[in-house]
Amino acid sequence: MNTQTSSTKDYLAEYDSAAIADKYPLVRRWMMTEPLPFFKQLRAQRPILVTPGCVLVSKYADVIDLLQMPKIFTVDLYKPKMGVTATDPGYLMAHDDDAIHYREKSLMQGMLNRNDLPRIRALVAKASSDILAEANGKIDVVYNYCRTVPAILVQEYFGLGNIDKKDLIEWSFWNQYDVFHNQPFDLNSPEHAKYISDNHDRVTVLLANYIKKELVHKLALVKLDQTKNLFLIVWRTLKSLGYLIQGKKAPIVKDDVFSRMLRTSFANQIEFDLVRVGVNAGGLLIGAIETTSQAVSQVIEFFIKQPELLAKAKAAAQQSDLKAFDNIVWEALRYVPISPYMFRQMSADYSLAKGTEYETLIPAKTNVLVLTQSAMFDDFANTNADEFNPDRTFYHNFNFGFGPHDCLGKYVGMEMIPEMVRQVLLLPNLHETAPVDYKNGPFPESYQLAWG
Ligand code: HEM
Repeated sequence: MNTQTSSTKDYLAEYDSAAIADKYPLVRRWMMTEPLPFFKQLRAQRPILVTPGCVLVSKYADVIDLLQMPKIFTVDLYKPKMGVTATDPGYLMAHDDDAIHYREKSLMQGMLNRNDLPRIRALVAKASSDILAEANGKIDVVYNYCRTVPAILVQEYFGLGNIDKKDLIEWSFWNQYDVFHNQPFDLNSPEHAKYISDNHDRVTVLLANYIKKELVHKLALVKLDQTKNLFLIVWRTLKSLGYLIQGKKAPIVKDDVFSRMLRTSFANQIEFDLVRVGVNAGGLLIGAIETTSQAVSQVIEFFIKQPELLAKAKAAAQQSDLKAFDNIVWEALRYVPISPYMFRQMSADYSLAKGTEYETLIPAKTNVLVLTQSAMFDDFANTNADEFNPDRTFYHNFNFGFGPHDCLGKYVGMEMIPEMVRQVLLLPNLHETAPVDYKNGPFPESYQLAWG
């Protein structure tokens, strides 16, 4: 990925002179291969670019403005991919500012108690250092580390146990691929689009079957735990009668997010029954793995390609206060985010950037690419925005989205991603033996590292 912020190329001149059919493919190529100079020209000369396929919004003010109008700039493109039908509400993420989104997001934010963050950091540090210690000086880091560590977190903290990590990784992969990289503006061929959605459908069945099984298993344990008092009375009686020598005092179920959801009783009126618990447990897994893997792989590569920055990051990685290190990672992700944009679909005609010379009427049903990476490089948000400067406010960092749909796993990710990068940077004489390989897909698939 090109991380240069400037170029002498006149993108808009080339765009204007291109044939209609070539316009959006050109835009797509620039967004993916040289986003920063392209976005800079958009912000300066055409902040809202209307292409034949979709509309691009590049300025900070307009990006945050539209992301706060979810009933107009909707997530309708998520709906067919997130189980929404006439009779099934599907997942909360496919809902805009309605009862289910408001209710389930807040319930899940409570389950992911932010007081758990030190425990999460420690879990990620141990899982990461164990994998690297066993690797003996070389690793293909994408599968064996960037995907495997979040899969361990999904098992141990989210509580989706009794399943092979490779299944969890595959289920997250196809969900993320189909929802975020199989939309009209991704320009996939019909055959490839079908291949992706067929795989998504296949893993949806596997995930649903697993969640049902695991939910019943966990629920039984939770109920056993909750009737422990009764159980203890029985146990003491049996013991006093000489039937038992030793008994267990520890809880039967370890604490994890899935168990918490099952332990908590909700009044019927809250409408968070076991089906909704299951759907939301699955959502945790889907959100966690491929996103983290991409962010971690890209940041490691970003550092390794810039030896001076790598040296600074390595020094910060060794400090006991990790804030400076984490900030370096978040600043790096401004240059190499998991996507340069988020997308929305218009529910009605709306005139964006009112009162400016570039005010634009966007018609209902238009797809809008919300250029969050561009917004992070807008001078309105960040002073000397092109410069690498870890001392920036996180309020203008859109790696976890912004507004009502901002990331549910944000605080988990804010521990997991930098800690995973840190453990790699602590390795002596770290270098790459082959660059990141995307294998023509949207995600890093292979990245060969060596050390020692
Ligand atoms: C750690 C586990 C994670 C979980 C459980 C998770 C889950 C979620 C959920 C449920 C949403 C939708 C929230 C809503 O609609 O209100 C969301 C949004 C989002 N997540 Fe995460 N996520 C995780 C990690 C990540 C990571 C590592 C990244 C990127 C580095 C990321 C980037 C995003 C973005 C950009 C959005 C906004 C999407 C939009 O507005 O359309 N997530 N996440």
